[in-house]
Amino acid sequence: MTLRDTVMVQGVMAVQCTPEATIIARATGAQVADEQDKSPLAVPRSGERRRVLRALCAVGLALPMASRAQGASGAASPPAENDQLVFAFGERAGEAIAPDDLALGTEQVFAYPMDPLTGEVRNGTRLNQIVLVHVDPAGLSEQTRARAVDGIVAYSGVCTHTGCDITDWDTSSNRFQCPCHESQFDPSDGARVVGGPAPWQLAALPLKLVDGLLAVAGEFEGRVGFMQPGLDPLGGLGR
Ligand code: FES
Repeated sequence: MTLRDTVMVQGVMAVQCTPEATIIARATGAQVADEQDKSPLAVPRSGERRRVLRALCAVGLALPMASRAQGASGAASPPAENDQLVFAFGERAGEAIAPDDLALGTEQVFAYPMDPLTGEVRNGTRLNQIVLVHVDPAGLSEQTRARAVDGIVAYSGVCTHTGCDITDWDTSSNRFQCPCHESQFDPSDGARVVGGPAPWQLAALPLKLVDGLLAVAGEFEGRVGFMQPGLDPLGGLGR
């Protein structure tokens, strides 16, 4: 793993700690450059720069956690109870998601939470990326059923290994699969790890219906973010 530079992801400074992060940043349209000079969170160019970047890497994705601690709202604040869920990408980006939008047994849909009062989509950090999938309600564990809406479950879309987006779906086993190192997570049982190097399950997001649309019922349960090998696994949201 190498430490290279910072990236700007949807307007929020993130730290690029891995080669995979470069791929993620570019795939999501993030700017990979010396953008830190333009950021209020500017990192010095001197010899301090590397030390500061390493420190930021160690705290991983802790900036949104700080926002929550301060009670901040806005695009980088974490999902909150009653937030609506909206499509994150594609032709329907920004549209509210109804249960019928998620066919049973098909691949996950990426979503972001949206503040129902202001209409602001909380897409200022990758940590707010959510994967939604509709699985057989009869196969849900008790704990997962308590967070689900008729078999629809929601989890963090960031892999706990080195932070790739959980974009793949194994149709034969109905599991999430990470495209980077093939970790697999069981959505019917708390997204526990069932294969690959991921160190822990995906954080779960409780769901409910508000006016027939999918909404957030509570904070993330579990740690959002990823392990940095060789560094303290600090950072991320949740408990
Ligand atoms: S980033 Fe390595 S398995 Fe997901």
